[in-house]
This record gives sequence, C-alpha cells and structure tokens, in this order.
Amino acid sequence: MITICIISLLVSSVTSQLTHGQTRVLYESFDPPTLNTSLWNYGYPWGTYYTHRANTNQRLVRVTQDGYLNLTAIKERSITLGVMTEFGPLDIDFSSGAVNTNGKFCMKNGFIDITLRVPPTESTWPAVFLVPEDSGRVPMLTIMEAFDSRSRYAYGFKYTNSKGEVEEQNFIADNKQTSDNLHRYGLDWGYDQITWYYDDKWVNTVTKSDELKQVDSLCLVIGLGVGGKAQASTINAAEYPSVMSVDLLEVWRPKYDGFYKFRNVQTGLLLEIDSASHDWSASVLQWHDNGGDWQKWHVQYAGHGQFRLITGHSRFGLDNPGSGVADGTKLIQYPYHSGNNQLWKLQIVDESKPDIVQLINVYTIGNADTPKLVSVPENDTSAGVQLHLWRDMNSDLQKWQMIRL
Ligand SMILES: *[C@@H]1O[C@H](CO)[C@@H](O)[C@H](O)[C@H]1NC(C)=O
Ligand SMILES: *[C@@H]1O[C@H](CO)[C@@H](O)[C@H](O)[C@H]1NC(C)=O
Ligand SMILES: *[C@@H]1O[C@H](CO)[C@@H](O)[C@H](O)[C@H]1NC(C)=O
Repeated sequence: MITICIISLLVSSVTSQLTHGQTRVLYESFDPPTLNTSLWNYGYPWGTYYTHRANTNQRLVRVTQDGYLNLTAIKERSITLGVMTEFGPLDIDFSSGAVNTNGKFCMKNGFIDITLRVPPTESTWPAVFLVPEDSGRVPMLTIMEAFDSRSRYAYGFKYTNSKGEVEEQNFIADNKQTSDNLHRYGLDWGYDQITWYYDDKWVNTVTKSDELKQVDSLCLVIGLGVGGKAQASTINAAEYPSVMSVDLLEVWRPKYDGFYKFRNVQTGLLLEIDSASHDWSASVLQWHDNGGDWQKWHVQYAGHGQFRLITGHSRFGLDNPGSGVADGTKLIQYPYHSGNNQLWKLQIVDESKPDIVQLINVYTIGNADTPKLVSVPENDTSAGVQLHLWRDMNSDLQKWQMIRL
C-alpha cells in the first residue's frame, strides 16, 4: 500500500512538471461497455488500411470489461487487395483494429500521454501518431511505433522541407521494454520543438521551428499493423491473434496561447518596450496603457511547461540579458533564439485568480540561488522605470494580470 502511494506520488509530481501551464482537455480511460464514438472513429482517417498487411475492421476493436482498448490482429483475409507501399508490394491478408479522432478531437501544441502494452509478436506494428485533419499523412508526429524487437521503439516527425520535399526524422529509443507491461509514451509539442518521454522520463528533444510552423491541428491515430514496416520480422501465423491494449490517454493544452497585455497588480501599468523601439536590447518598462503593439505580447507554448513572450511590434522576445542570475538584472527585448533566458514559467499564485501570474525566468531556475521574477523595482515604481528580475518577495510588484486580447 505504502509503496503504491509513493510511486503514484512520484508519477504525478513528474507529470505536473511536464504539464505546468497547461490544462487537461482529454482523459480517456476506455470505460466499458463500448468505444466512445463521440471521440473515436474506426479505422484510419483515410480508410481501412495503410502501409501494412492488415485490413482494419471494427470487430477487432474492443473496450474490455477491465477498461482497456484492445486492438486484435488475426490471420484472416477481409479484403482481396494488395497495396504498393514504401516497403514494397504487400498483400493485405490479415485483419486488425485501428481507431482515430479525425474531426472529433484534433489539437495543436500541448502534451499527450498514452499508456499501452505492445503485443509481443514482433511482426505486428503497433503505432500511435498524429496526422492532419484533412486525412493527409504529412505532417505526421509519431509518438511511438514498434516494428521489430519489443525492447525498443521508434518515434519521429515527418514534414515538408523548404524545397517542398517530404522529409522524415526518425529515432529509435533503445533499451525500452514495450510488451512486458503497460508503459507510458509522452509527446510534448511546443511551437518550435517536440520532446518525447517514456514512462515520464525524457527521451529526446528536436527543435524544428520552420517545419513545426506549418503544422496545424493534428488528430490522433492508434493502429495495430501487421508486417509493412515490420516486414523484417517473419510472420508466424501461430503467433496470432495478437493483442495491443491501451489503458489511458490524456491530453493537456497550454493555458495561454495568443496575445495578452500584462498589467502590474500594484501599479496598474503595462509591461512594454521603451519608445516602441525596434532595437536589439531596448529596455522593458512599465507604462500607461496606450493601445500600442509594443504593449501586446504574443504568448506561445514552447514545451516543457514554458512559454515565450514575443512583442507585438518588433517580434523580439522578453529577454534576461546575458542569462543574469543576480537580483536587479534589467530586462530587455532581444531576437528570439530559444534560449532559456528567453523562456518563462507563468506561475498562478492564487488558483481563485487564474489570470494573475508571476513571470519566472526559466534560466534562473536551478542556476540562481533562487528563481527570479519579472518585477517593478521596489524603490522606484514610477511609469517609465525599467523592469528587472528579483527573487520572490510575495509582492504585488511581481504579479501581473494577463489581459487576453
Ligand atoms: C465521450 O467523448 C466525448 C468527447 O470527448 C465526451 O464529452 C464524453 O464525456 C465522453 N463520454 C463518455 C461516456 O466518456
Ligand atoms: C485484452 O488484451 C490483453 C493483452 O494485452 C489480454 O490479456 C486480455 O485478455 C484482452 N481482453 C479481452 C477481453 O480480450
Ligand atoms: C533602486 O535600487 C537600484 C539597485 O537595485 C539602484 O541602482 C537604483 O539607483 C535605485 N533607485 C532609486 C531611485 O533609489
């Protein structure tokens, strides 16, 4: 009992780090008796088969009494068809299950966590991925797929490059058991980078700002393939039926996304750029609300529960110059380069006032004696004063009301 409590505490504390600044928008635990068809469609968004040897069939998708989504692959021909795939010509001589959320639940940016058990049969190809709502297959974000050994899995990103060619980045996560038990596969999707997790542990981060910019809303697919990418593993029909079980799917989305004004709780003045400057290193001040674009901030989810704040007029980022760690480090705008000194945690101080936040510089978390907040200097709270970083004094001079535009 005690052990169980400790484990669940650990898991939830890691998860709350990963989902800081986000709201859970989906909790699907596959409760019996039937699949929730307000959320799920059967098959793939584009039809019943894909680049493997199984035709999918609603009959092979089951929500079990104990609350799993079971997808079962069997040696049974349900279609007389072969397909030409990137893995060569394939005869579709098996049947299996797949589900997707096309047109029912699609998203951009946030954190997805899925708990599942991969079938032990190495010739199956279980996969969880995200594809566009128009039934296209590019861009595609793959959360996990297993197509050979069950002690590793693959993940990746498929996109169109600047020359208009489809390009893929695929990775293997080695020494990760997939079929022995249920495991969690996480994907953290920020505006310029994606991070994969296995059982809440970091696996890899890929930064692709130009490519991720073209990615619009994506919808989820969970499928159990046979052969195809798994064709290197010979198919032994005696190993079928083979079952993939999904226990839980959770999705979080950023709490903040879009343009905001930041009004200081004590002074009532707005976070702005001095004289609407377009200069690198121009000062960040507080000033009276005048409707200027230099008082509007584009808040975008960067991943890891962190955000960037981009000015409306110059498109520069709110920046802690030189990654300062001292109290009194003065704030500027600077071209955005994905530095931790340009990333911010938006910390709600009082849950009853969720629009009021502290702006914590990410670089100072762990690098300074204590994390530093965007603050109006205590000794000069006048309009026009340059804002600085200061340790948390539980002062209203360090609290900002976010006004959505
Ligand atoms: C089915 O899914 C919809 C959409 O996510 C959700 O609103 C509803 O509560 C779900 N129903 C059940 C019984 O879980
Ligand atoms: C669901 O799949 C698991 C294997 O992952 C299996 O043990 C269980 O019997 C299946 N449940 C049903 C009702 O088929
Ligand atoms: C306020 O304190 C800072 C040091 O934190 C100092 O540089 C500045 O001169 C002081 N301003 C006034 C008006 O006293």
